[in-house]
Amino acid sequence: MNRKIENTINEILTRVDFSKTDIIRLLESEAEDRTLLFKKSSEIKKKYIGNKVWFRGLIEFSNICGKDCLYCGIRKGNKNLKRYNLSDDEILAAAKFAYDNRYGSLALQSGELEGGLFANRVENLLNKIKELSNGELGITLSVGEQEPEVYKRWYNAGAHRYLLRVESTNQTLYSKIHPNDSKHNFNRRMDCLKNLQDIGYQTGTGVMIGLPFQTLDDLAGDLLFMKDFNIDMCGMGPYIEHADTPLIKHSENLMPLKERFDLTLKMIAVIRIMMKDINIVAATALQAIDPIGREKAVKIGANILMPNITPGKYRDSYKLYDNKPCTDDSAEDCQSCLEARVSLADAEVIYGEWGDSKHYDKRRH
Ligand code: 5AD
Ligand code: FES
Repeated sequence: MNRKIENTINEILTRVDFSKTDIIRLLESEAEDRTLLFKKSSEIKKKYIGNKVWFRGLIEFSNICGKDCLYCGIRKGNKNLKRYNLSDDEILAAAKFAYDNRYGSLALQSGELEGGLFANRVENLLNKIKELSNGELGITLSVGEQEPEVYKRWYNAGAHRYLLRVESTNQTLYSKIHPNDSKHNFNRRMDCLKNLQDIGYQTGTGVMIGLPFQTLDDLAGDLLFMKDFNIDMCGMGPYIEHADTPLIKHSENLMPLKERFDLTLKMIAVIRIMMKDINIVAATALQAIDPIGREKAVKIGANILMPNITPGKYRDSYKLYDNKPCTDDSAEDCQSCLEARVSLADAEVIYGEWGDSKHYDKRRH
């Protein structure tokens, strides 16, 4: 073992605040160094969160999208895709499934649409979900950039968490992975995050890891942004190419999938150390690379899983990236499968609790 390197990592891990150089060093760690990183992050998770996992039943209610992000399989420009939109009854039935199975919360996710019709629809769904669960189901929304008034209405209707990934905080990189038009504006993304936080949402963001052109410096910058912005929740996953997207043409310069996976685990470990009491999602994309990818994330710091409860027949059409797992399973399959997997990671699924971000509680009181 290289004693000098071990000391360096140990030394970094004792610091209260990491510099960008420290973070890069942690993201580069291999072998024993990486083991030290993961040991530290899982100790912190245990101390601040416990060996616990909360479910957010994920309903991908529509893949109709007004945006054209260059990496995303459900982008507007992808014509090789059957578009679907669940009926309100189907969404409410999935919500009822979550409630009956004592999931503490649900997450409603869809392609991005703006406008009065969409705002009304979501507001109405929120009211109905609250009604059918006696106000007990917690609700996370993940439906993209919206006007502040819309965010406010949804908050008042009972949504209390919002996930809006920034994708990358390096503006130059952001502009390489999005069309350069007013619909895909980095500053608007930032304004939306700020609005969400000001309104009172538990606010979550995250990035994709292993994007073309992305460097460790970029990723370190992303983590520092999350800390500085004081996020409550984090959802990060590996970038996985999708054949029907423009970004596919940059595939030859990507790091191998396995490396993207490893780097994602390190990102999760580092943010857990930096922000001890936030909620961290073990992203489904991890499982597209490694069959027990999400469980590995739980072991080293994640505490939220999002079992897919979208009705089976639609799942195949919500393919953000290729090789998405669990697209032919039913909601019941995913639950029992995930529960077994979580116990393999020595963690326990907590039912009937919201599992709010402790960070949020502290920040607000
Ligand atoms: N690979 C990995 N994640 C992706 N997302 C979209 N496309 C891909 C892809 N090709 C992620 C984005 C988005 C979230 C809903 O899915 O980060 O915010
Ligand atoms: Fe969906 Fe295992 S998590 S089947």
